[in-house]
Amino acid sequence: MTAIECKDLWLSYGSASVIEGLSFSLESGKCLCIAGENGTGKSTLIKALLGLKEASRGEIVFFGGEKKHGIGYLPQRSDAQSDFPASVWEVVLSGKLNNGRRLPFYTKKDKEEAEKKLELLDIFRLKDKSFAELSGGQQQRVLLARALCAATQLILLDEPVAGLDPTATSEFYKIIHRLKDEGITVIMVSHDIHCALAVADKLLILRNDGYSFTDAAPHEHDHEGGCKI
Ligand SMILES: Nc1ncnc2c1ncn2[C@@H]1O[C@H](COP(=O)(O)OP(=O)(O)OP(=O)(O)O)[C@@H](O)[C@H]1O
Ligand SMILES: [Mg+2]
Repeated sequence: MTAIECKDLWLSYGSASVIEGLSFSLESGKCLCIAGENGTGKSTLIKALLGLKEASRGEIVFFGGEKKHGIGYLPQRSDAQSDFPASVWEVVLSGKLNNGRRLPFYTKKDKEEAEKKLELLDIFRLKDKSFAELSGGQQQRVLLARALCAATQLILLDEPVAGLDPTATSEFYKIIHRLKDEGITVIMVSHDIHCALAVADKLLILRNDGYSFTDAAPHEHDHEGGCKI
């Protein structure tokens, strides 16, 4: 099944055009890596996929026209509110609000799943801490746990490994493999192409004057300084 289909998509801010005539499609359960230089529109595209940014032309079809649900989102670090006044537990659990529910009411299952994500990202001991008092990398892990709580169909990750230490980075890529095994579609912006290609099926490179959309080349392990996934 096709998870996402982008048809002749144009995105702009006022008269400044950012993305022109972008078309691609991604099968469900696959991983797309989006790369490209600063300012080429990667975060703007992620926001359009989330429905936070309207297209000036073209369209994005989500799971054959289904209503959007079950989407996890990790914003780029500069976009995330680092002084958010809530505990780690509240931030992670709030990922469960995503599933079309309005009331801040959580089931026992929601709480069990949120606890599992805390363990998965090795932040269980931070559960009762204030989010605002964590280090940047710890906050990144908390926001990733939150996105994982929300993602039952699709996860959108904007520079997920920025700020993570090497151990957390390699754990992160293992988590992506697991998500794919569970049939969750993954879209990830990354400058760390070398490592991202180890998990990606497709590669979208945005440029100022266009884009390329290709199969991700098979990953070749190098022995020095390569990523250990
Ligand atoms: N809210 C906004 N209002 C006006 N222009 C914006 C806005 N957000 C982004 N832009 C512009 O759109 C272009 C693309 O920005 P975007 O953040 O999508 O780039 P990016 O590829 O994610 O870059 P980076 O690698 O630095 O994160 C940039 O020229 C930027 O200045
Ligand atoms: Mg960006």
